[in-house]
Amino acid sequence: MNRVKDKVIVVTGAASGLGLADTRVLTREGAQVVMTDIDPEAGQAQAEDIGATFITQDVSNESSWDRVMSEVDKRFGRLDGLVNNAGIAPIATIEDTTTEVWRRVMGIHLDATFWGCQSAIKLMKQSGGGSIVNMSSTAALVGLAPYLAYSAAKGGIRSMTKSIAIHCRTEGLGIRCNSVHPGSISTPMVHKALKTLVGTDLMAEEDPEKTRKAMGIGEPEDVANMVLYLLSDESKHVTGAEMVVDNGDTVI
Ligand SMILES: NC(=O)c1ccc[n+]([C@@H]2O[C@H](COP(=O)([O-])OP(=O)(O)OC[C@H]3O[C@@H](n4cnc5c(N)ncnc54)[C@H](O)[C@@H]3O)[C@@H](O)[C@H]2O)c1
Repeated sequence: MNRVKDKVIVVTGAASGLGLADTRVLTREGAQVVMTDIDPEAGQAQAEDIGATFITQDVSNESSWDRVMSEVDKRFGRLDGLVNNAGIAPIATIEDTTTEVWRRVMGIHLDATFWGCQSAIKLMKQSGGGSIVNMSSTAALVGLAPYLAYSAAKGGIRSMTKSIAIHCRTEGLGIRCNSVHPGSISTPMVHKALKTLVGTDLMAEEDPEKTRKAMGIGEPEDVANMVLYLLSDESKHVTGAEMVVDNGDTVI
């Protein structure tokens, strides 16, 4: 209990899936979580249920970052953590990825992570330090054929994270920056992909839990527990690291 007590933490894309699980686990461990999402209805409802704060945000809009960080500063006067988690995963290979899809994926993943880190560092410097977690993927480590733009963006997030980590260390800012690389985890994003790619409707299965386990798919809490560790002071000596949460999928 209280592993992140009183820390003020922003989680993007928090209305669903991994961001929602992060919010639940961080709140349970004492943090004051500011959830942001492009979906205000789901976000607001979840925030009320959990006891967190919700702000509507399209992370791919640069000016939204000033608005979110100003609001956090006004309400809490500090920022201790940021999880750049919001994402989309359109299915398209090198042969069928349109420029529009490419730009949208880069906007939501790469641009947003860049703006998120930049604006968080400004506020964290005032608070004397902090921890940033950038949600990447095993797609950054191996490359996935049906996810061309997504793999490229997640690879960029991986190396951007390391550049930020070393900058913050060199400048003595007390800010750590790490990336998390989940394999397949049971969230709406993956349920949609399973239907399209392998024809399995996981949630319509007679026993979804049994099928999930048989398919080697993890639970959102498996990732949320890693995020919790990286945002807590337990990971004070960890920065620039790529934390893989994939049950060994990329090892075999
Ligand atoms: N689920 C997995 O297996 C898996 C694996 C590796 C990486 N990831 C990454 O984890 C993150 C979360 O994925 P998830 O599986 O929970 O997906 P999800 O679809 O369940 O949730 C994504 C959330 O992001 C929000 N969002 C989308 N576009 C946004 C925007 N422009 N601005 C703000 N919010 C926006 C959505 O409204 C949604 O609430 C993503 O970055 C994803 O790439 C997921």
